[in-house]
Amino acid sequence: MTSAPAPRVRPRRLRETPALRRLVSETRLDPAELVLPIFVREGVTEPMPIASMPGVVQHSLDSVKQAVADAAAAGVGGVMLFGVPETRDATGSCGTDPNGILNVATRVVADEVGDALVVQTDLCLDEFTDHGHCGVLDALGRVDNDATLERYREMALVQAASGSQLLGLSGMMDGQVAAVRDALDGAGFAHTAILAYSAKYASAFYGPFRDAVESTLEGDRRTYQLDPGNRREGLREAMIDIDEGADVVMVKPAGSYLDVLADVAAASEVPVWAYQVSGEYSMIEAAAMHGWIDRRRAVIESVRGIRRAGADVVLTYWATELAGWLREGTE
Ligand code: PBG
Repeated sequence: MTSAPAPRVRPRRLRETPALRRLVSETRLDPAELVLPIFVREGVTEPMPIASMPGVVQHSLDSVKQAVADAAAAGVGGVMLFGVPETRDATGSCGTDPNGILNVATRVVADEVGDALVVQTDLCLDEFTDHGHCGVLDALGRVDNDATLERYREMALVQAASGSQLLGLSGMMDGQVAAVRDALDGAGFAHTAILAYSAKYASAFYGPFRDAVESTLEGDRRTYQLDPGNRREGLREAMIDIDEGADVVMVKPAGSYLDVLADVAAASEVPVWAYQVSGEYSMIEAAAMHGWIDRRRAVIESVRGIRRAGADVVLTYWATELAGWLREGTE
């Protein structure tokens, strides 16, 4: 019996030592490319736990200050604010009220850390409508695209005036980027940037978020969010948004849509971000609680995979904690 010839090519050489592996690593993580989503709830004096997202809370207007200061101290690149109002109505009027919870929270946060990181706001109606949809409804109960654009235009002006530097358009209405850009430019907010949640899929992974914002939605969002099977359409949506003037485009959720993310990253001339959503967070937390996976390694690997697929920035509920680990250099 003759022995097999020795391999001519040995990729394992570069995996030999920690130092070599570090030197040839293709994807590094940096706190500056992480964004922390934050919930702020009206009418509470203490942070309220969210049952389906262990470790994440609904902040009070007071406790949010410490949370954003911690994020800034850890070097996190930005925060994305969501408001949880006490009362909701058909048109989501809290969203356009300068004294509505999201707009008040934006002023508080901009005041606290506006120079240290980028203050961003969710521009969508679902947290504020009593029916829970991302837009206003027509007489037949369907989400009325163009009437919703009028509401988004108003929201954009209030959010920009409150100190949001980057508006996160997450409603998936046609023409929303152009409509909001036009409204901003016409009102002296030409410098306020737009993050378009371009390829936002109708996903089961938003489940815990709906708890977090106490969503009243019945039914689903399939007439406006993308069908999870559609890859080409995700790219198309991103291209439309870039054409309408989006400064940044996003793919969401992240983990189950890495192919879409890679497609958009290859074609986009603007930065491409990805949102590691609530369900992605909760799955890892739940498995780690059972001792079924190594929490820290799973968190790092999940975010790294999203970066590797092409995201320039990742929105993740672990942003501050992960930034801390990265700064310790013990990744
Ligand atoms: C809509 C919005 C949603 C999320 C962010 N913005 C929920 C939805 O479309 O139902 C989900 C975020 C997450 O799951 O972490 N305003």
